[in-house]
Amino acid sequence: MSGGITLARHIMTKSATALPVADLALIMERIELIATRITRELALAGLDGLGYTGETNVQGEKVKKLDQWGNKVFLDAFEHGYPVCSLISEEMDEPHHYSSNCRDNSYCILYDPIDGSSNTDVNGSLGTIFAVKKRAPRHGSGIDDILVPGTKQVIAGYILYGPAAQLVYSAGAGVDIFTLDRILGEFILWKENVKMPPHGSTYAVNQGNAGKWHDGARKFVAHITSRKDKRTSYSLRYCGAFAADFHRCLLEGGIFMYPAEVAEGGKPKGKLRLMYELAPLSMLAEQAGGRGSTGKERILELAATAIHERHPIYIGSAEEVALAESFNVEG
Ligand code: AHG
Ligand code: MN
Ligand code: MN
Repeated sequence: MSGGITLARHIMTKSATALPVADLALIMERIELIATRITRELALAGLDGLGYTGETNVQGEKVKKLDQWGNKVFLDAFEHGYPVCSLISEEMDEPHHYSSNCRDNSYCILYDPIDGSSNTDVNGSLGTIFAVKKRAPRHGSGIDDILVPGTKQVIAGYILYGPAAQLVYSAGAGVDIFTLDRILGEFILWKENVKMPPHGSTYAVNQGNAGKWHDGARKFVAHITSRKDKRTSYSLRYCGAFAADFHRCLLEGGIFMYPAEVAEGGKPKGKLRLMYELAPLSMLAEQAGGRGSTGKERILELAATAIHERHPIYIGSAEEVALAESFNVEG
């Protein structure tokens, strides 16, 4: 633990970030509140917070009670969340606006409140993923100023709810990791300016879908598991929560992939969502020296045309992402 540097103190002493320090501090204060509330709830969810609501969300997925509750935690926190005036959530069909927070400089937060929902009822790893984009001055009720490439994100991050609750974020000046001290109720700096190893020894993918991928994706996985030498002897590590699998790549190198599924009945664009899963984690990957790709294009250059748009993803160490692209993994 580096001398107990709190998130708030670290923000105040940060080198040049993509937004004014005062705005960063106000936004991260809300994120810290949300992270602490969700951490506490997850620790007790086994008592009465699990199961399904019985509804289906805009993604066509059955909604878990924790998905809906997590979304409400964001809505409640940002009701008094100046300078954030707009919220785009995996769990809401449309953006939510707080016009009272709309002043000359305002922001939109794009988030996945509970990532890895298939793990909620089995005490598995879960995450919260978020990105922040600046809103255009005097923006109207439209969102054209938000449907811009991920290069316009000013903050990206996630909270990983594992044995430890960790907050990982970047505001354009490197990636820093904080660990929640549950007694203090503060996130304390754990690692600063984290750099992703140029390659690793693990890959993360739902191998059960292999029969639905482009042939190149199957060939890439066959290559890195052909055990001809050290660099073709990867181990599979996949837990069902993107943030958790990405965290392993951030610290130890390796690649996470969710390919498109070209077979009948498959997910033609893969499963993960650009605005609040792929773009934030691709910003973190690049800030740490890694990459985020669709298998063909740089994720951060994609401008969504719809807020729940999906894309295939190959993200992690620069060498593994480049190797995947060389196999024409997306045809
Ligand atoms: P969410 O729970 O927010 O819908 O996200 C789940 C995502 C991602 O976190 C994970 O890597 C992937 O779905 C797992 O999908 P499969 O169950 O199809 O492998
Ligand atoms: Mn998710
Ligand atoms: Mn989710």
